Amino acid sequence: MKILAIETSCDDTGIAILEVKGNKNPSFGVLSNIIASQIEVHQKYGGVYPMMAKREHQLNLVPVLVRALKKAKLLKISSKPQSPDVKILEKIFEREPELLKKIIPFLKKYKKPSVDFISVTNGPGLEPCLWTGVNFAKALSLFWDIPVIPVNHIESHILVNLLENPGIKFPAIALVVSGGHTQIILVNGIKKYKILGETRDDAAGECFDKCAKILGLGYPGGPILSKMAEGIETKRALPRPMITTKDYDFSFSGLKTAVLYADRKVENKTDEYKKQMAAEVQQSIIDVLVKKTIKAIRDFDAKSLILGGGVSANQELRKQFKNKLEKESPNTKFLVPKPNLSTDNAVMTAITGFYHKKDTKDWQKIQADGNLRIG
Ligand code: KG4
Ligand code: ZN
Repeated sequence: MKILAIETSCDDTGIAILEVKGNKNPSFGVLSNIIASQIEVHQKYGGVYPMMAKREHQLNLVPVLVRALKKAKLLKISSKPQSPDVKILEKIFEREPELLKKIIPFLKKYKKPSVDFISVTNGPGLEPCLWTGVNFAKALSLFWDIPVIPVNHIESHILVNLLENPGIKFPAIALVVSGGHTQIILVNGIKKYKILGETRDDAAGECFDKCAKILGLGYPGGPILSKMAEGIETKRALPRPMITTKDYDFSFSGLKTAVLYADRKVENKTDEYKKQMAAEVQQSIIDVLVKKTIKAIRDFDAKSLILGGGVSANQELRKQFKNKLEKESPNTKFLVPKPNLSTDNAVMTAITGFYHKKDTKDWQKIQADGNLRIG
């Protein structure tokens, strides 16, 4: 079975094609995984603006699809030009005129690929961006007559771990840490989720990004800040918000404010200073994430720890989780995706689609929902 997946929840335009063999004990083969990053566009403004990101998705989706199909050897030119129903397409892409211009010649030129399902992220995320991907999936579904599976982005950050570990043991504790979310989720099985706690304000990735901005490190902050922090010994100079509370919630906006106030007092912002602050910020975030997640693992006797989301690409975070788990809960298996599958991609959307293949929806009924919840 082949699944074509579309992911446009934030600023990466991702399309992947996944081949799944077997049903009960599936094995996954990634035929293609293409991502068009918008980093250069957003770098100029120091962050992601939804309408700008939406415009980029409109421009990127068709070229990314062509590359993904080509890589998977599924791109075939049609012997006679196809004739898509332009009226319906105009309706679907009422708010995405740039994408409409690109999809019509594409549909005319190429044959329907041999794909069984289309899965698409329909939330949570930036709503205008989500709609662009959803409408793209709708048009392809209609024209090619392939069923669509709407997929939750948070669930995808968890289930991407099944790519290399299809036999995860439950109950598991998942920590999803991204630019938009920080959640600890109890996973009693695939599709059985309960949010135990989450951030009350900024997400961990957002905190990385905002602190990096304060320190003048550029965008996206997470990877730049963590590079600056390499090899620096920390002095516990910043607060660890909510680290001792008995719940599983987080709060990162106070940390950002502490960095802002500390930064104002420094006149000469040397490289040494920036490196030290980068390390302090990173360690504060790691300390809180590790402490609360390990508490959840103990409280629920979790057999697996699953990390996911852009911040889980952080090498120091991975290392400290691994060490802590070995010491405090050695029987809990540690799962974390490869760094390129921690950040947004469409492989995760495809895998989640596979587990929801019975949940296809009439293309007309699929809605994007920026606040979609898991569980
Ligand atoms: O999951 P993701 O790609 O997109 C969302 O769903 O938000 O996560 C993006 C976030 C950004 O805030 C980025 O700064 C952060 O993940 N990030 C990192 C690292 N790589 C990406 N944060 C810390 N260390 C990293 N190496
Ligand atoms: Zn994400």
